[in-house]
Amino acid sequence: MAQFLAPVVIDLEALVVNGKQAHWHVRGRNFVGVHELLDTIVEHAQEWADLAAERIVALGLPVDSRISTVAANTTIPPLSEGFQNSDVTITEVIAEIDAALLQVRRAVEGLDEVDLNSQDIVIEIERGLTKDRWFLQAHLAA
Ligand SMILES: [Fe+2]
Repeated sequence: MAQFLAPVVIDLEALVVNGKQAHWHVRGRNFVGVHELLDTIVEHAQEWADLAAERIVALGLPVDSRISTVAANTTIPPLSEGFQNSDVTITEVIAEIDAALLQVRRAVEGLDEVDLNSQDIVIEIERGLTKDRWFLQAHLAA
């Protein structure tokens, strides 16, 4: 169970950190909308990390979400340093969400025959994260 939930916690915590970085450094078109949406995405990622982590702990196992562990094990790609145009920020954060979604969907598949209640948590996360991805991606549409 933890082998599927722990990578989800790690990638969501990484998304929290890089999402804030993106929130602070985005510039250009649709600034206010993108800046505020990034904060919403960070809040959701933190809530979902908490949900997955507390499921692991509730079942009696520890979870390692120390910053060094997150940095060493996250699958999300790096974010560019410093101020960025909003199109660049959006593209990069979508790539981060996509990496996290791979872990979430892997957990949905893997937990199917392991623990349906844990699977329910990652299904909820998948639904929300996919929606947040849509809200971000829609800024790029012509
Ligand atoms: Fe802020």
